[in-house]
Amino acid sequence: MASSKSLHLIFLLAVIFADVAVDSSKEFLQRARETEFYDWMVGIRRRIHENPELGFEEFQTSELVRKELDAMEIPYKHPFAVTGVVGYVGSGKPPFVALRADMDALALQELVEWEHKSKIPGKMHACGHDAHIAMLLGAAKILQEHRDELQGTVVLIFQPAEEGSGGAKKMIEHGALENVEAIFGFHVRSAKALGTVTSRPGPLLAANGFFEAVISGKGGHAAVPQLAIDPILAASNVIVSLQNLVSRETNPLESQVVTVGKFQGGSAFNIIPESVSIAGTFRSFSKESFFQLKQRIEEVIIAQAAVQMCNATVDFLTEKQPFYPVTVNSEQLHRHFLNVAGEMLGFDNIKDELPTMGAEDFSFYSEVVPVAYFYFLGMQNESHPPLKIGHSPLFQVNEEVLPYGAALHAALAFEYLSDAQIPSMEKERVHDEL
Ligand SMILES: *[C@@H]1O[C@H](CO)[C@@H](O)[C@H](O)[C@H]1NC(C)=O
Ligand SMILES: *[C@@H]1O[C@H](CO)[C@@H](O)[C@H](O)[C@H]1NC(C)=O
Ligand SMILES: [Zn+2]
Ligand SMILES: [Zn+2]
Repeated sequence: MASSKSLHLIFLLAVIFADVAVDSSKEFLQRARETEFYDWMVGIRRRIHENPELGFEEFQTSELVRKELDAMEIPYKHPFAVTGVVGYVGSGKPPFVALRADMDALALQELVEWEHKSKIPGKMHACGHDAHIAMLLGAAKILQEHRDELQGTVVLIFQPAEEGSGGAKKMIEHGALENVEAIFGFHVRSAKALGTVTSRPGPLLAANGFFEAVISGKGGHAAVPQLAIDPILAASNVIVSLQNLVSRETNPLESQVVTVGKFQGGSAFNIIPESVSIAGTFRSFSKESFFQLKQRIEEVIIAQAAVQMCNATVDFLTEKQPFYPVTVNSEQLHRHFLNVAGEMLGFDNIKDELPTMGAEDFSFYSEVVPVAYFYFLGMQNESHPPLKIGHSPLFQVNEEVLPYGAALHAALAFEYLSDAQIPSMEKERVHDEL
C-alpha cells in the first residue's frame, strides 16, 4: 500500500507528464506543417509514387528510406525480409515502441494524369503506401529532433509486401519486433474527412484466407453429355454449396464471408471442358471459426464435386499469401490514442470505426505484440472533389494528410514512452501484457 506522500508524488508526476502530452501533440503537428518540412515529405512521397515497386521488390524504395535515415543520422538495420528497414530513435534502452509503414505498390496501371504519375507501366501506388513511407520518415525527423527527451526507444518499421504476401510475417520472423512492447500503425482513408481519425478497441479487421480449387471431369462434345463428365456443372454446384456455409453453419451473430471471385475454364460454345478452376477468399473474426470455415470449404468442394463424379483438389495458397490473423486493437492503447489524437486534432475529430471484413497484415504484429493499435487517417478535404478509394487506377493521395500522419505517429510513440515512466501507467501496462 503506497503512503499518501508517494501517492501525492505520483499524482504530481502524472500532472507533469499529462502536460507534456498536450504540448507534444500540438507542437509536432505544427512542426510537420512548416513549409520546408511539408515540402520535404511531399518530395519523398512523389519520388516513391513515380517509381512504384511490388511486394518484396521495393529495392529503390528501401534505398531511398535508408538515405533519408542516414541524412537524419538515425541508425537502422537492413535488410529484413529482403527490402525491409528498421530504424531506432531514442535512448537505445527499453521500453521499445514501434511505428510501422508498408512500402509496396500494386500491379495496376495509373490513370491519373499528373506531373508525378507512375513511370512504371502496370505498377502504381494505389493504396497510399507511398504516403505511409513519407509520414513515417516525417515522424522519424520529429522524434530525432526530440531524441534527448525520449524515455526509451522508438522502432521505425518499414516493411515490404503488405498487399497479400504478408511482409509483416517475414519482418517478425527476421526479428523486427525484438524487445518491442507496443506498436502503432495506420492506413489513409479516402472517404474520411481530413483531420479526422477513426478506430475502435478490440477486433477491427478480419482474418483472411484465399483458396483455389481445380475441378476435373471428362471433356467431350456438348451434344453428347452422357459421354462426358461436366466440371462446369459440378463447379456451379460447389459455388452454391459454399454459400450455404455462412448462412447455415455459422452463428448468425458472428461475421464471416465466403466469396468466389474467379471461375475459369472452357473455351468453346459446344465443348465440355476437361476441368475448371474456381478461387476465392474467406474471412472471419475469430481464429477458431476461421479454421473451421477453412476445413468446411475443403470438404464441401471435394464432396460436392464428387456428387457429379468429378475430382477436386483444393489449395489454400499459403506459400504465396499466408493467412492473415484478425487485427485486434488493445483497450489500453485505445485510451492512449483518444488522449493523444484528441489533443492534437480536437476530441470531436476522433470517430468510432465499425469492424469491417477487410484485412491488414498489421495483424501479424498485433498477434505477437498484443499492445498494438491500428487506426485510419482521413484524407478528404471537404472543399476538394471526392477522392477515389484505394486500389482504383484513379486513386489519389491528398498530400495535406502528410503532416497529420507524421505528427500522430511521433506523438503516439513519444507519449507512450513518457507515460511508461509514470508508475501507475507502468502497472497497467504490465498488467495488459499478461
Ligand atoms: C478421379 O480420381 C480417381 C482416382 O484417382 C480416378 O480413378 C478417376 O478417373 C478420376 N475421375 C475424374 C473424373 O477425373
Ligand atoms: C482544404 O483545401 C483548401 C482549399 O484548397 C485549403 O485552403 C485548406 O487549407 C485545406 N484544408 C486543410 C485542413 O488542409
Ligand atoms: Zn491495399
Ligand atoms: Zn494499403
